[in-house]
Amino acid sequence: MISVFGSLVGEEEIANVAACMRSQWMGFGKNVDLFESKYMEKYGLPSFAMVDSGSNALFMAVVLLNLPPNSEIIVPTFTWVSCAQAVLLAGHRPVFCDVDIRTMNVRRQDIEAQITAKTAAVMIVHYAGLSVDMDPIIELGFPVIEDAAHAVDSTYKGMPCGSIGDIAIFSYDAVKNLTVGEGGGIAARDPKNVERAKVMRYCGIGKSGFDSAVSANGRSERWWEYNIQEPFIKMLPTNMAASIGLAQLDRIDTLQARRKEIWKMYQQEFADMPEIVTPAEAEPCDRHSYFTYCIRVPRRDELAHYLLKKEIYTTLRYHPLHLNPIYKQTEVHLPNSEQLNLDALSIPLHPRLSDNDVSKVVDEIKTFFR
Ligand SMILES: Cc1ncc(COP(=O)(O)O)c(C=O)c1O
Repeated sequence: MISVFGSLVGEEEIANVAACMRSQWMGFGKNVDLFESKYMEKYGLPSFAMVDSGSNALFMAVVLLNLPPNSEIIVPTFTWVSCAQAVLLAGHRPVFCDVDIRTMNVRRQDIEAQITAKTAAVMIVHYAGLSVDMDPIIELGFPVIEDAAHAVDSTYKGMPCGSIGDIAIFSYDAVKNLTVGEGGGIAARDPKNVERAKVMRYCGIGKSGFDSAVSANGRSERWWEYNIQEPFIKMLPTNMAASIGLAQLDRIDTLQARRKEIWKMYQQEFADMPEIVTPAEAEPCDRHSYFTYCIRVPRRDELAHYLLKKEIYTTLRYHPLHLNPIYKQTEVHLPNSEQLNLDALSIPLHPRLSDNDVSKVVDEIKTFFR
């Protein structure tokens, strides 16, 4: 089966994991510090902390905003469920907005249509790794959470995605551009937010007893007494995950180059097919991360089933959130996202695909429409 998403790890990741196991220190530790500093340097982030998933980073990001209870946060409906769950679990209300049918990204006007007296913040998602037009959104004046789960390596007007909003999150799950198995990151323009995130991720304590004992160097008599700074759950990343991340960081440029190559093959092959609306390219001043290649086609469901029979797995990212009864917004009409729900389909794009795999995907899609 050719998979729609995927990552690529090699001997370096395996060697790093083995070294981590041999060190007998698999949990939170020095590899995390090293990953954080290398990631910040590579992507020019002002401050950054690793956590255990992008979904948890989203919850943390909402808490970090310190909004009054029951605030409204505007969230694109065309995104992953964690975006809305984070808002709800933090005691607020997600208010869904539409996206542009061409870029599949949220625009200022989509947000403006949902602003009320209770609006306290905005969440944006760089869909597929194509950067959102951030400036007009930031000009609205609300705190902005930037979901850069798809946007590792993307830029907007020369700035790395994840460095533009007040707080940003990344995902390093098993199918993301940079994988650590399961993991995430949180970045903030104000480094105090990342300092706080580092305390939060360890149950609101920050320092372990061991760290306190070592740093106190004998001056503290009872290092096992900790100062709990705020109520929070555990979101600690592990040395094991960070050791994979370090090897992935070394190979990220190669991984990205392969994603770009496959993207270009699809763009060329589908250019003269009237049935297929190909995805939007990045503006010349921006950089795409090529996380997913999402086409729009007639007879979408039929195509997906046809491809599955041919051992090609495709999917829709994402079933619009407002259509889920749990959020009680099914009456809201968000026409572009509802249209995407009917005709959008992500086809395989990841660095493990061979040229033969890509040709097979192209040939089968062409055969289907012939
Ligand atoms: C847009 C978006 N935000 C957040 C997440 C959550 O990331 P994670 O899988 O690391 O929890 C995902 C995961 O796919 C995502 O696509």
